[in-house]
Amino acid sequence: MEQLIKCLPDHTSYRISGNGKPVVFLHGFGEDGNIWQNQVNELSKQFLCIVPDLPGIGISEPAFSALADHSLEAMAAVIKKIADQEVLQKFTLLGHSMGGYITLAFAEKYPDLLNGFGLIHSSAFADNEEKISTRERSIAFIRANGAVKFLEQMIPGLYGEKFRAEHYNQVIEHLASSLCFDAEVLIAFYEMMIRRPDRTKLLAGFQKPILFIMGTEDKAVNLSDSLAQCHLPVESHIEILESSGHMGMIENSERTTIAMKKFLMHLNEN
Ligand code: MLT
Repeated sequence: MEQLIKCLPDHTSYRISGNGKPVVFLHGFGEDGNIWQNQVNELSKQFLCIVPDLPGIGISEPAFSALADHSLEAMAAVIKKIADQEVLQKFTLLGHSMGGYITLAFAEKYPDLLNGFGLIHSSAFADNEEKISTRERSIAFIRANGAVKFLEQMIPGLYGEKFRAEHYNQVIEHLASSLCFDAEVLIAFYEMMIRRPDRTKLLAGFQKPILFIMGTEDKAVNLSDSLAQCHLPVESHIEILESSGHMGMIENSERTTIAMKKFLMHLNEN
């Protein structure tokens, strides 16, 4: 698969591959765009796949200081700039977890640019008090111990127990790719997530199809929260990955790819 790397004037960079109707993939917290590699390898045979690293991460590290403010909405505005640069009239946005929160912020501001979107292990609910205190403890831990010690603890916990035991090399590969992340960027991401509003009304009012992919063993966005939002949209497409944790793109890569492909084909038929 041939992949080009392109860049915005603010240094946000994205990988672009394939041909066809455009799809933009947004990674989550503690990862970069390479997390979608299995999906992009397959989907780029049929779709134009655009995969940014969010400002502050990986090849977009220098773009963090150019953000208008530290918010998920500012991240969504960066995605709009990518869409403008690529002259996308209509596209599909698929976001993993924090990438899903940015997807929702984008859908709120630019609904007409989307033909549908996907929340992959993500949720439209705001953080509850318990989640906020967990994030505050994580921020304190990063300040006291640094990003590497934090990521070493956090990343293995994103995976389901069975997958972690049987495929530890893949967990380590993910961890290794994240060890250069800057502590201040991770803290800023947590603060953005704490501040995000509830967007369940947006889900209910959005007039185009929405894909939900969830894992029964997901501890970061648990199954009951994921399920509690699925009835809201006018058209939901739901994939439940048994025994998967928070990382279905890796833990159950084939089923995740197939669910995305079916959803994209459906969107582009209509
Ligand atoms: C993510 O994977 O992006 C985070 O786990 C999201 C979250 O903590 O809510």
